[in-house]
Amino acid sequence: MSIIRCEDLTLGYEGTAIINDLNFSVNTGDYLCIVGENGSGKSTLMKTLLKLKNPMSGNVILDEGLTQKDIGYLPQQTVVQKDFPAKVKEIVLSGCQSRGAFKLFYNSEDKALAHENMERMSITDLAERSYKELSGGQQQRVLLARALCAARKVLLLDEPVAGLDPMVTEQMYELIDELNKKDGITIIMISHDIHAAMKYASNILYIADDIFFGTKAEFKKHDIFKRYTLGQED
Ligand SMILES: Nc1ncnc2c1ncn2[C@@H]1O[C@H](COP(=O)(O)OP(=O)(O)OP(=O)(O)O)[C@@H](O)[C@H]1O
Ligand SMILES: [Mg+2]
Repeated sequence: MSIIRCEDLTLGYEGTAIINDLNFSVNTGDYLCIVGENGSGKSTLMKTLLKLKNPMSGNVILDEGLTQKDIGYLPQQTVVQKDFPAKVKEIVLSGCQSRGAFKLFYNSEDKALAHENMERMSITDLAERSYKELSGGQQQRVLLARALCAARKVLLLDEPVAGLDPMVTEQMYELIDELNKKDGITIIMISHDIHAAMKYASNILYIADDIFFGTKAEFKKHDIFKRYTLGQED
């Protein structure tokens, strides 16, 4: 059953379109990888799925009773976020904010959920540390734990392994895969790592001048894949 459908979506800024007539859908349990060139509109699409940005035309339809509140989001990291002056446990807990209703205090249920997700990401021992003092890999784990506090059903990840060393990258991919396979969380991940996309994803959305959406097996046979991976093969 589809839980997210995009129909004839055109996205852009100040009247200039960057993605035209995009159609795709995501089913419960899917692992969708979004790949494509820098500046092609991948992050913009993710913000549109979260209703943080309006499309120029077309619709994002959430089915099966899914609301934006059930979607966890790990944004693309910015330099500002790297210097964020807060404790790890505060950042994870802030994932429990239901969007729209700003909470000044968190209840015991929120705190238990934050604790559970810190355990899951093996960062409990970092709880009292300041976020800005952590390594890149530790910071990504904190952001993933934060996103998990919101992700009851769906997790949106915008380049979750950017800047991580190969070993930590692999660990992150394994963690995300486990969330998908064991916990049944639907994953939508933006990545420039085509090898990981082809290893873990069930479906691929390629966004550049031309667009591809389909299963991993279909993508592998497609001309776009051959062109895109040219020079990226081992
Ligand atoms: N707030 C904004 N206002 C105006 N233009 C924007 C804004 N955010 C992004 N853009 C432009 O929209 C285009 C798509 O940006 P977006 O961040 O969605 O690309 P992306 O596919 O995520 O790229 P990358 O792989 O580099 O992260 C770019 O040309 C960018 O300059
Ligand atoms: Mg981006």
